[in-house]
Amino acid sequence: MTTGSPRPIRWGILGAGEIARRLSRCFAAAPNNVGHAIAARSAERAAAFAREFGFPVVHPSYEALVDDPEVDAVYVATTHPQHLAQAQLALRAGRPTLCEKPLTVNAAEARALIATAREQGLLLLEAMWTRFLPAYRQMRAWLRAGEIGALTYLSAELGFRSTAGAEHRLFDPLLAGGALLDVGVYPISLALDCFGERPQRIQALAQLGETGVDERVAIGLGFADGGIASLRCSIRDDLKGEAQLVGDGGTIELAAPWWAGQRVTLRRAGHETVLREFPAQAEGYEYQLEEFARLLRAGERESARLPWAESLAVMETLDAVRAEIGLRYPFE
Ligand SMILES: NC(=O)c1ccc[n+]([C@@H]2O[C@H](COP(=O)([O-])OP(=O)(O)OC[C@H]3O[C@@H](n4cnc5c(N)ncnc54)[C@H](OP(=O)(O)O)[C@@H]3O)[C@@H](O)[C@H]2O)c1
Repeated sequence: MTTGSPRPIRWGILGAGEIARRLSRCFAAAPNNVGHAIAARSAERAAAFAREFGFPVVHPSYEALVDDPEVDAVYVATTHPQHLAQAQLALRAGRPTLCEKPLTVNAAEARALIATAREQGLLLLEAMWTRFLPAYRQMRAWLRAGEIGALTYLSAELGFRSTAGAEHRLFDPLLAGGALLDVGVYPISLALDCFGERPQRIQALAQLGETGVDERVAIGLGFADGGIASLRCSIRDDLKGEAQLVGDGGTIELAAPWWAGQRVTLRRAGHETVLREFPAQAEGYEYQLEEFARLLRAGERESARLPWAESLAVMETLDAVRAEIGLRYPFE
C-alpha cells in the first residue's frame, strides 16, 4: 500500500562552496527535496559540509557521487568554467541536473551541454533561481495578460561592492571572473524573458580592472519591435537593485532588490495601484528546488519558465557583450 505522497528528490551536490551552502539552507522550505550526498575536491570540506547540513552521504569524488544510484538529481555548484564538464559528467551518469548560472562560460559550451541533455533524454535546468520566485511570476503573469500593454522599456541592475582580494574567483580571469557572468547574467536573463525574444542590437561599455576582468558594465539591448533594455552590473558598487518594466499602458516595478522577489507593483493610468507582497520563506532557492522536483516527476526535460533555448540565448547575449567590451577569458 502506498501513502500517496511521493518521497522527496534526493540531491547530490558537486562542490561545497558558497552557493551550495545557501541552497542547502533552503531544503527545509522545499518539502519535495532533500540534501542527500556531497562531494568536494577536499574530503575534509565535504565531510564538514555534510555534518553542518545533515547530508547522510559524503562521496570521495565527483565521479563517485554521480554514480550513486540513490542520487535522484545532481546540483552543479562549482565555479563557471567547471559547469560544462561536471554537468556532462552527471548527465552521462544518468542524473537529471540543476546547473548553476551562468549555464556555461560561453554559447559554444552551452550548445554542447544542451546536446548532452538531449542525447541522454534528461532534465537539465540552469539555476536561474530568480525566475521561480513568486513576485517574479506575478510580474510575468501581469505582463503576459497585457496589463501594461506592449513592453517598450525595461531597466534592471544588479551590483554589489566586493571586498574580496584579486585572488578571489570574482576577479580571476581563469575562473571567468567579472561582473558580467556573475551578476550581469541576471538582468540579461530578465530582459530576454520579458521581451520574449533575442535582442537584435547589443551595445555595452565596461570598466576592466587590474586583473583584466569586467568590474562594471552598462548594457543596451534593442529588440525587434523597438523595445529597449537598459541594464547595469557591477562587482565594485552596491547598486540599488531596482527593475522596472514600462509598457504603453502602465508599469511594473519589482522592488529592490528585485532578485529577492518579495514585492511587485502594477501601475496603470485610471486604475488603482496594485501591490503584491510575498514574504520570504527561506533564501529564495526553495522555489527553484520545488520547480525542479515538479519537472522531474512530470518527466519533463526542460522548464517552460526557462527553456534550454533561452539559457542559450542568454549565453549568446553574454558572448556578444564580451565582444563589444573586448573581453576574452585566457582559456578560450
Ligand atoms: N555565491 C552566490 O551567491 C551565488 C549565487 C548564485 C549563483 N552562484 C553561482 O554558483 C557558482 C559557484 O559560486 P560560489 O560563490 O559558490 O563559488 P565558490 O564558493 O568560490 O566555489 C564553489 C566551488 O567551486 C569549486 N572551485 C572553486 N575554485 C575552483 C577552481 N579553481 N577549480 C576548480 N573548482 C573550483 C570548489 O568546489 P570544491 O568544494 O569541490 O572544491 C568550490 O567549493 C558560480 O557559477 C556562481 O555564478 C553563486
